[in-house]
Amino acid sequence: MTHSTRLALIGCGKQMRKNLLPFLRRAESEARAVVCVDPDTEQARRVQAVTGAPHRYTSVADLDLGSIDAAIVAVPPEPSADIAEKLVHKGIHCFVEKPAGPSTERLRQVAVAAEEVSADVRVQVGFNFRYADAIRRLHEVSAAARAQPCSVEIEFFSRHPSAPQWKVPTAIESWIRQNGVHAFDLAQWFVASPIERVVAHELPGADPDRFMAIVGLYHANGSHTTLRVGNQTKRFVVNATVHAADGSVYTAQSLERVELVRDGGIPSGARLFAHKPLDHGWGRSGFGPELQEFLQACAGTSWKPTPGLRDALSASMLCDLALEDLTPPSTADSGTM
Ligand SMILES: NC(=O)c1ccc[n+]([C@@H]2O[C@H](COP(=O)([O-])OP(=O)(O)OC[C@H]3O[C@@H](n4cnc5c(N)ncnc54)[C@H](O)[C@@H]3O)[C@@H](O)[C@H]2O)c1
Repeated sequence: MTHSTRLALIGCGKQMRKNLLPFLRRAESEARAVVCVDPDTEQARRVQAVTGAPHRYTSVADLDLGSIDAAIVAVPPEPSADIAEKLVHKGIHCFVEKPAGPSTERLRQVAVAAEEVSADVRVQVGFNFRYADAIRRLHEVSAAARAQPCSVEIEFFSRHPSAPQWKVPTAIESWIRQNGVHAFDLAQWFVASPIERVVAHELPGADPDRFMAIVGLYHANGSHTTLRVGNQTKRFVVNATVHAADGSVYTAQSLERVELVRDGGIPSGARLFAHKPLDHGWGRSGFGPELQEFLQACAGTSWKPTPGLRDALSASMLCDLALEDLTPPSTADSGTM
């Protein structure tokens, strides 16, 4: 693409305004917003005012698809799948926020539809933690350890959602599908060996809408991943640790720093990465690099095909398996007294 990428910003709510727009504006690219779309006109108006996009609509149906090259889609899961399917079919590159669809089945349909169009059409899913500097660094430094059977631990805690959201019936399922999906995606990225079994356990707690769960993922090559996830903590937490077969331990704490905790079993404490204090969240959250990656792909300068719809699909399948243990069938379904 030789001209500047013409972007549609679709869904102008919290994620678009707070987490994507600030970084989109800093991304080194020739991209420019040409239209904002949201049925909530006030939301669309706010984003239009910040970006200076010349057009604003309440529905994707009103878009002149010939006037855009790419779209940033940050809407609830159901319209997300519909919009991505429609735009990709018309040859428009899409950055789609996770989970990218309301169910595994719907994600499968969209992934298949996307694969039927030209490979030149880029579809990226917003699993931003794969781009977070500390997590990416941990992934790099543990590459040799992860090439062998290993043990990985991922902690992912965030306060929201703590109530049913977007037609999902329970708080725990909403949380797993909206936020826990990040942890499942990291698990499949850190250990590429297929996951053969998922066992999930919820710690008993007083508040039915606040929970902590421990999920065990058993990989085909003998690796094991433990996820500790939930919405019971007072603040957002993401940590990841890789235990190598030789007793070495690498850890990324709080998206801040990466350490070699033990080297072949011997305490080390060597710092392998630390964040610059004035990063302003660009690389810490991963939102900046992931958008930059997408915009460069749209401009034809580079393209790494992940995370894409297939990753969203497999992460959704893992959510389904964990939820089988975490949301037991209702009394009526199970036939218990
Ligand atoms: N990557 C992350 O860490 C992260 C964080 C938060 C949210 N998200 C994702 O971003 C998406 C949006 O979340 P949010 O917190 O901004 O929700 P939100 O409710 O604040 O915003 C969603 C916006 O989409 C609009 N919308 C609904 N249907 C639409 C349609 N058909 N066309 C255009 N606009 C439509 C709504 O009016 C609303 O303004 C979700 O998929 C969510 O999972 C990702």
